[in-house]
Amino acid sequence: MEKLALYGGPKTKITPFGSGKRYGQEELDQLREALEQNTLFYAHGKKTARFLNKFKKMYGSPCAVAASSGTAAIHTALAALDVGPGDEVITSAVTDMGSVIGILFQNAVPVFADIDPHTYNMTAESIEERITPQTKVIEVVHLAGNPADMNAVLEVSQKHGIPVVEDCAQSYLSLYRGKLAGTFGEFGCFSLNDFKHISAGDAGMLITNDEHLAWKAQMFTDKGYDRTKQAHNPPFLAANYRMNELEAAVAIAQLDRLPWIVSRRREYGNRLTEGISGLPGITPHKITPGGESSFWFYMLRVDEKKLGAARDLFADAVGAEGIPCTKGYIARPLYLSELFQKKTIYPNFNWPEDFPQYAHSVTYPQGLCPAAENVLKTAVTFRLNEFFTEQDIEDMIRAIRKVVTGLFPKNR
Ligand SMILES: Cc1ncc(COP(=O)(O)O)c(C=O)c1O
Repeated sequence: MEKLALYGGPKTKITPFGSGKRYGQEELDQLREALEQNTLFYAHGKKTARFLNKFKKMYGSPCAVAASSGTAAIHTALAALDVGPGDEVITSAVTDMGSVIGILFQNAVPVFADIDPHTYNMTAESIEERITPQTKVIEVVHLAGNPADMNAVLEVSQKHGIPVVEDCAQSYLSLYRGKLAGTFGEFGCFSLNDFKHISAGDAGMLITNDEHLAWKAQMFTDKGYDRTKQAHNPPFLAANYRMNELEAAVAIAQLDRLPWIVSRRREYGNRLTEGISGLPGITPHKITPGGESSFWFYMLRVDEKKLGAARDLFADAVGAEGIPCTKGYIARPLYLSELFQKKTIYPNFNWPEDFPQYAHSVTYPQGLCPAAENVLKTAVTFRLNEFFTEQDIEDMIRAIRKVVTGLFPKNR
């Protein structure tokens, strides 16, 4: 048995990971055309409209609305669904803050659902437990490219008559029972920040089947302007969440790359699962039954008892083999962050207790979502990249296997 790199043995990964250029001539051509329009305003140029049309076609969705970020897209979806002061929005305890910002800006209350211990998506059971008469929206997060169990979520949504917003920031072209994540709920929301499958630097978008909701969303992203009319008479408070023509130009070219990006990641993620399955103390990233992930990241879990070693030691040992990985994902479930614990969300305001609209007293104690807390203490995250080579994935598998067997001899 080879000595672990952590203890001075040879590293598993001796060649650099595959890398590549995300942006090329196609993006440059689009940008040039955008600049030659002599306007970068979405309602005067053609790029934003073209991007939305392409996206609609790809998703088979009748309506799409551009936004300035994924956070903006989610905020817009909630606003279009009339989320307002005192309403509750159920979302995941394990997600990016961008899932929650829009809820708070609408003066609504985030209610955190617990997650499945191995798919890491919020469960329908936990969602249902948290429904109250104040629940206005169920905001499902498809984490890491893995679609949530939408049949179960929709059953809860239909039973209680509560609309669903899907946060697909990490889940382009993810499939659930053959249908694209983002097409199940009232809105699907996407991000084009620089870390996502596709990037325009920053930007976002929403899809919906409902023309009226699309109109409201459009108004909300553009200060309440209806650009088809002359007079400006905003019907409700709205933000400026506009996409500009430069972002749209890059996004058009990026969309053409998306199927390839997802197919590479899907192949690599599934191969990784195959390669590390059956190892004692390691549970691969479980894909929701009936789902196909687009693997924005790959998160396995360590059973410290079965492995006979701590998660941190395992991650250090894999890192020493030349395979970068992170302990956990976000540092803690969102409700345990300072914002909620120290009630610093709004200045000089004891939120939500001092909120007259708010019918319940919501608390965010440790233990609120036990699975979420446990997952973040025992998971290890690997970034996947479409530019990786098959050799890179085989090296990742070899490193993990080597660490499991080498670091913890009783597992051999
Ligand atoms: C799950 C999730 N939701 C929302 C967002 C927000 O997207 P953006 O950064 O474009 O505002 C992100 C981005 O990291 C995300 O990962």
